[in-house]
Amino acid sequence: MAATHIFDAPPPGCASDWTMPQNWDAFTAQEHQVWDMLLAKHAQALEPLASRAFLKGLDILNMSRPGIPDHRELNARLKDSNGWEVVAVPGWIPNKPFFTHLANKRFPAANFMRDGKNMDYNEEPDMFHDIFGHVPMLTDPVFSDFLVAYGEAGLRAEHMGAADYLGRLWLYTVEFGLVVEDGELRAYGGGLLSSLAETTHAVTAPDARRLWLDIPRVMRTGYNFDSFQHVYFVVESFDELLRQTEETRFADVYAQVMPLPDLAPSARTQEDRPFMPAKAGDDRPVERLSPRQRDALLPGLEAWTLADDGAAIARRFVFGDFVAAFGFMTRAAIVAERMNHHPEWANVYNRVDVRLTTHDADGLSMRDIALARALDALAASA
Ligand SMILES: [Fe+2]
Repeated sequence: MAATHIFDAPPPGCASDWTMPQNWDAFTAQEHQVWDMLLAKHAQALEPLASRAFLKGLDILNMSRPGIPDHRELNARLKDSNGWEVVAVPGWIPNKPFFTHLANKRFPAANFMRDGKNMDYNEEPDMFHDIFGHVPMLTDPVFSDFLVAYGEAGLRAEHMGAADYLGRLWLYTVEFGLVVEDGELRAYGGGLLSSLAETTHAVTAPDARRLWLDIPRVMRTGYNFDSFQHVYFVVESFDELLRQTEETRFADVYAQVMPLPDLAPSARTQEDRPFMPAKAGDDRPVERLSPRQRDALLPGLEAWTLADDGAAIARRFVFGDFVAAFGFMTRAAIVAERMNHHPEWANVYNRVDVRLTTHDADGLSMRDIALARALDALAASA
């Protein structure tokens, strides 16, 4: 698809700061429907993969009516959390207005929706990417401070001709960043969270390369536009991300990296500090869901049936052939291992029968719900 939302100057209908009215009433029923389908697909499946700050912030998108969020309602909620507002823009906007908006707690969101043919990935960041992928994180106070600091650094970088270097920090944090929470690796970048396939890859794939964040290293590293990233950078917390951003003298880093050749996305250097995942969840107590909790969670798992004794859920997955079924099981095994929760399953040709229960809890636990959602997402993307 050709990029069609890049302009040299604010197009008709835009103000000089590149903002435009959202014009919510003009969205078509199909655009609202695409939003709803994407939201339904991502929100639940991301539960075991996304930062808890993001999952907590997702509540902000629970609008009073389905479809694309109306900025008027969304902004009333955002203002109440950390003082942000979303502003509609036509697509990519130049650095200066972009950084100015961030520094003033205005998050620019593309005012167009991908069409129904590009449900999994859109070459240009659209409204789903910007609003679903990024806006929930604005509700985290520390991440909010980081974004403001980033916008302010961006305005200074523009003066120094260094915005491309700072842009890589955006790319490897705000777009594709990973964070450790309670010993678990989770995604917080909007480029990841608006793509279930890449989030699953970045968080769970054994062969995904993950390094601890190192700002000068990031600023030298190119990135991929049209495929999964070759490397992801991990922060131990958003406090740490903010601390590094505030304590780094960016002018010194630009001076350090500008004379050096760029690093390819797949490059390896001697200073790289690989992130080594710990086995998560081994020693945490597992609580059995109460019947009330269970009944509240099961409507999100329509394809699953509850065992008569209420202690397990089961689903039959059917694929095109044996290879597709086995491929699903291979990917599911990786996710299950990462979640330290394993299904009981049986495979006959193109069928996989799965039963989930938590022996330690003597019944159903959140682990079963999370794994069921992850398996649904994997099957949907198979
Ligand atoms: Fe983005």
